[in-house]
Amino acid sequence: MKVSKQFVELDKKCHDRISFDCGEEELNDFIKTKAAKHATAGINKTFVLAGADLLSSGRYPIAAYFTIAASSIESDSLPVDQARRLPHYPIPVFLIAQLAVHSECKGQGLGKATLVVALKTLHKISLEMPAYAVVIDCLNDDAKSFYEKFDFELLETVNGRTRLFLPMMTVSTLF
Ligand SMILES: CC(C)(COP(=O)(O)OP(=O)(O)OC[C@H]1O[C@@H](n2cnc3c(N)ncnc32)[C@H](O)[C@@H]1OP(=O)(O)O)[C@@H](O)C(=O)NCCC(=O)NCCS
Repeated sequence: MKVSKQFVELDKKCHDRISFDCGEEELNDFIKTKAAKHATAGINKTFVLAGADLLSSGRYPIAAYFTIAASSIESDSLPVDQARRLPHYPIPVFLIAQLAVHSECKGQGLGKATLVVALKTLHKISLEMPAYAVVIDCLNDDAKSFYEKFDFELLETVNGRTRLFLPMMTVSTLF
């Protein structure tokens, strides 16, 4: 799939959600049925990288997407050396709630590019509204090993999923 140059906010009139397939039903279902509703409700926002060529539906395919949201963690879930510098009430963080690449586009660097754009977006937001870290709840061990490659560290297990984090201070050094 030839892809466009930049990520834009999901627009259901323009982006073909039905044809998205990353091989993980939960992430396929999210973009098809939940992402637009959640954005309207104001609970998270989804950005997509569209394919360059129109489909017969009159919409553009989605090559990759990510979803970001505000969240919080307990300071005592952090490593002790970090926790001791923080107050004992919930600590604001950014959540990368979803991130996926269409199966047709895997293994071409798009996952890494999507993560970089997500982190850059959160970095820009943090200049106006700070947060301590970026967190991710991994769908499975495959996702965990992908994020660990980019220096995400273990935080805790939440609802059976491994939660990883990357301090915003580290993210800031990237941009
Ligand atoms: C995980 C996912 C985003 C990776 O996308 P991708 O486009 O294939 O990844 P890239 O081509 O950008 O790979 C970037 C690097 O990560 C590595 N990588 C890719 N998938 C990996 C995995 N599961 N574990 C470890 N490393 C991985 C690549 O080898 C590459 O390494 P290199 O830079 O040293 O060459 C994609 O496979 C996907 O959408 N999976 C299903 C959805 C999912 O699990 N999302 C995570 C939700 S929590």
